[in-house]
Amino acid sequence: MKILVVGSGGREHALCWKIAQSPMSDELYCAPGNGGIAQHATCVPIKAEDIEALGDFAEQNRIDLTVVGPERPLIAGIADHFRSRGLTIYGPSAAAARLEGSKAFANEVVERAGVPGKRFDVFDDPADARDYVRDRGAPIVVKADGDAAGKGVTVAETVDDALEAIDRCMVEKAFGSAGERVVIEEFLEGQECSIKVFTDGETVVPMVPSQDYKRIYDGDEGPNTGGMGCYSPVPVVTPKVLKWAIDQVLQPTVRQMAADGTPYTGTLYAGMILTDDGPRLLEYNCRFGDPETQVVVPRLEGDLVELLLATVEGRLHEVEASWRDERAVCVVCASSGYPLTYETGKEISGLGEVAGLEDVMVFHAGTKRVGRRYFTDGGRVLGVTALGSTYEQATDRAYKATGQIYFEGMYFRTDIAERAAGCD
Ligand code: GLY
Repeated sequence: MKILVVGSGGREHALCWKIAQSPMSDELYCAPGNGGIAQHATCVPIKAEDIEALGDFAEQNRIDLTVVGPERPLIAGIADHFRSRGLTIYGPSAAAARLEGSKAFANEVVERAGVPGKRFDVFDDPADARDYVRDRGAPIVVKADGDAAGKGVTVAETVDDALEAIDRCMVEKAFGSAGERVVIEEFLEGQECSIKVFTDGETVVPMVPSQDYKRIYDGDEGPNTGGMGCYSPVPVVTPKVLKWAIDQVLQPTVRQMAADGTPYTGTLYAGMILTDDGPRLLEYNCRFGDPETQVVVPRLEGDLVELLLATVEGRLHEVEASWRDERAVCVVCASSGYPLTYETGKEISGLGEVAGLEDVMVFHAGTKRVGRRYFTDGGRVLGVTALGSTYEQATDRAYKATGQIYFEGMYFRTDIAERAAGCD
């Protein structure tokens, strides 16, 4: 089969790494890819948002299956575009991707699906939103309704912070049209985790849970990032919690989307929070998570392509996913200054040495290959994933490997998976 992966981050590297191992994968392409992905796939210089050009490429090269990594093209309708051209694609339609593209839509669907949710209200007028916040008090959560590239959520500790967030979205229009409407939600406290499933619109096949570290600094301090590391499994996500999330959250949502005439197919990612009153849904994403994919995919025992195909062909009920028992830990190496401003073009050393280490995989998030040398090319540069029979072993391997890699300004958190230590 000829397979095309769309995207250029660590998530797409992990997907390409696994897809390349499939006996079904004869030719693998990635658009646009990155320096590390080029080890497994032919990188094609087409941007992930250029839906028309991606469709042309897939048609001209007779691609049998396209797998989409990031949310942007999905929300913009890449799956609909490909299907209208008779091309096979893994990922939800634009109508279904609204579960990530509109927070108000997602809240409304889960409410109708009977999913135990959180209190929320939707506002188109900043004055009404401000009155609501003053009335409710803080802490409170203010979200831009639309796709704000992961930056539209404010967990406001004070009423003033919440008022500022409303103004940023609705008056200053910091997120453009994505912030014209805001969703204000009750604040929930607890450990967060992500639970993802493959779904063909009817059947759901769970992936292993994972937990990521969103803040830049150790101890969960500093600004939010795309994710500075993660681990899987998650001790607090017991088999009972996982079953509850599937039965009470993900399956009812998938049923509701089908009943509404907008069946959801692809990866459905539930961001959950484990409160003292039990698990609750925080938000939906319409894709594989990043860096979560870098710990989930290495734990998949079987053939990823078989699962992706079963999803797009509506026969997930025929297949099972089996997962390795090992723990997986991923440490993200970032450029100094990320998530704000940072420099690129720094040469990366140590990748050759790490390549030989047992159960260690280095997924490239923002790199460029020039000849045989690699240079930084983004905020998040590498994800160093290690497997081990205990959390300690996996963490130790991941940090030992990270210690062998160097580029000027390299920054990483030193407390990834610390929470899970001793839970084996
Ligand atoms: N790591 C969070 C996300 O992929 O949305």
